Amino acid sequence: MEKQPVLEIQGLTKTIGQKNIVDNLSLNIYPGEVFGFLGPNGAGKTTTIRMIVGLISISKGNVIINGINLKQNFEKAISCVGGIVENPEMYKFLTGYQNLLHYWRMTRGVSKRRIDEVVKLVGLKNRIHHKVKTYSLGMRQRLGLAQALLHSPSLLILDEPTNGLDPAGIREFRDHLRTLSREENIAVLVSSHILSEMELMCDRIGVIQNGKLIDVKNVREFVGGEQKQQTVTFAVEPVAEAQEYMQQHFSDHPLKMTSEGFQITVAREEIPHINARLVETGIKVFSIQTAARTLEDQFLELTGGEQIV
Ligand SMILES: Nc1ncnc2c1ncn2[C@@H]1O[C@H](COP(=O)(O)OP(=O)(O)O)[C@@H](O)[C@H]1O
Ligand SMILES: [Mg+2]
Repeated sequence: MEKQPVLEIQGLTKTIGQKNIVDNLSLNIYPGEVFGFLGPNGAGKTTTIRMIVGLISISKGNVIINGINLKQNFEKAISCVGGIVENPEMYKFLTGYQNLLHYWRMTRGVSKRRIDEVVKLVGLKNRIHHKVKTYSLGMRQRLGLAQALLHSPSLLILDEPTNGLDPAGIREFRDHLRTLSREENIAVLVSSHILSEMELMCDRIGVIQNGKLIDVKNVREFVGGEQKQQTVTFAVEPVAEAQEYMQQHFSDHPLKMTSEGFQITVAREEIPHINARLVETGIKVFSIQTAARTLEDQFLELTGGEQIV
């Protein structure tokens, strides 16, 4: 990507006591991309985000937003940022629109038309004149999102935005984020400890563990990546005979029996070899399916097996 980054983080460190809670973290985020900050609880995601939005001080390193160093010109740098870090405060007995209007009055230099624009962006048009107390959690999240977007930020920061949402709510939220990054060319930084969500929501993912950024990858690389080992499912007949053959000859590979045959994890080159051996033995092979490794498999590999969700 040759575009100018919206957010540059350089050697960002937070030291509390003797400990680096966030440890020399560097990364760039670009316009129009959804960047996922993935790590188990306690990894340092919130601490990093709190430094970026100026809620806590930076021990070491720099945060540069649209070329402006947060330390040198906080007001100007932060004016480009919208975020939901803690739960957004909403007045439950007011309508969604009244809440936005209230917030708009406190925001300088934004046209009133922008309220309608953000309402549309987050898909709350039909319910915006209803009281917030009648909203689902997902709708409240989206109202928070609308509020964060009111001043047309170029960087949107969301700390675990899908916490507490049901799968449908998560899907909806994800679709809105995608629309946003596309239509407003916003850079989105979203944190989560849930792999499956990140896989669906983000373009790139940075994995954080013990305050350190241990890997950054495109989601496609993550999921499709240079696969050394593949898990392959064979449908064969007769099933019992094939299973016995595999146990005798291939039991040094991870092998699992299925109702139609077996599943084995092997190097790619092994697949035609197994097929040939089965056929030689007189076993019929009906199908061979390879499964793309999930983000979860990759994550476990990266972190040496530390389980997250
Ligand atoms: N003010 C603080 N004082 C001491 N330790 C803290 C403080 N804030 C966070 N931590 C510790 O820093 C680590 C990272 O926390 P946090 O950034 O909240 O992680 P995450 O958001 O990834 O779950 C945790 O071990 C947490 O206990
Ligand atoms: Mg957190």
